[in-house]
Amino acid sequence: MKVTVVGAGNVGATVANVLAQKNFASEVVLVDIKESVAEGKAMDIMQTAHLLNFDTTVTGVTAKIGDEEGYAPTAGSDVVVVTSGMPRKPGMSREDLIGVNQKIVKSVVDQALKYSPDAIFIIISNPMDAMTFLTLKDSKLPRNRVIGQGGMLDSSRFRYFLSKALQKAGYPATPTDIDGMVIGGHSDKTMVPLTSVATYRGIPVKQLLTDEQLTEAVESTKVGGATLTKLLGTSAWYAPGAAAAAMVEAIALDAKKLIPCCVYLDGEYGEKDLCIGVPVLLGKDGVEKIVEYKLDGDEKAKFDESVQAARNTNAKLNVL
Ligand code: 2OP
Repeated sequence: MKVTVVGAGNVGATVANVLAQKNFASEVVLVDIKESVAEGKAMDIMQTAHLLNFDTTVTGVTAKIGDEEGYAPTAGSDVVVVTSGMPRKPGMSREDLIGVNQKIVKSVVDQALKYSPDAIFIIISNPMDAMTFLTLKDSKLPRNRVIGQGGMLDSSRFRYFLSKALQKAGYPATPTDIDGMVIGGHSDKTMVPLTSVATYRGIPVKQLLTDEQLTEAVESTKVGGATLTKLLGTSAWYAPGAAAAAMVEAIALDAKKLIPCCVYLDGEYGEKDLCIGVPVLLGKDGVEKIVEYKLDGDEKAKFDESVQAARNTNAKLNVL
């Protein structure tokens, strides 16, 4: 398994670092436009190999926008993770980044695809749902090979906030005690944390938390990224990076794990011609199945709202 991670900023470097520690990939190539940054971060990660006991080789390469040969070291990658572009600053929405990031994402996907025509692409750059749609349309790859990372991260944040709510309610829950899923767009306003299927060791959390406590967990999840952006002055990286690495792992190990991912819908959930978060099975072929199940009335209405918001953002793509 060879993985390319484009963008050696906080998120990209975290993806490479987590992948190295998970020790299933033979090779991880980190690419950045800034001179020597990817090389430096890769070397730093490799100097933990002995300490953390992994055999994955991480290398770094500088490749400017449009420098096709710069991508030669990425050749033959099985998975390409795209983190390139601007992160948001406090007060910005992910959608505010569409103008600058669409050109960057289009360019790096074109460059990476030339050297890795069979790769599965995982898109993290924001606004992620629109960047996934752009990648799919521009590359003309089959939809199983273009996957956006959002639901994995948002679901992990949902589990965290539900564990906090349960602790307040007197249950000593940790995030690993919780099962929960977030679908819809990776957006502060319209992501859809599914309270109907969230459980604490199998017990529906709805039976243990008040409506107020549940609403607080849902609302904190929706603005989870914005809260961290305010605290950090830039967007988060540990959980986004770990979420992408978990998706790469499901693909590499052909785990066929049920993970909410941003994928192209062609009739599923009653929608067509957009990319948005729904539960899928991730395995060696990327998206191996879109899992459709009946949303409850309120969740269906929220999902529809999220779809509309994603369509509105897609309408702002001008490099298609
Ligand atoms: C987040 O939610 C970076 O969009 C990412 O933290």
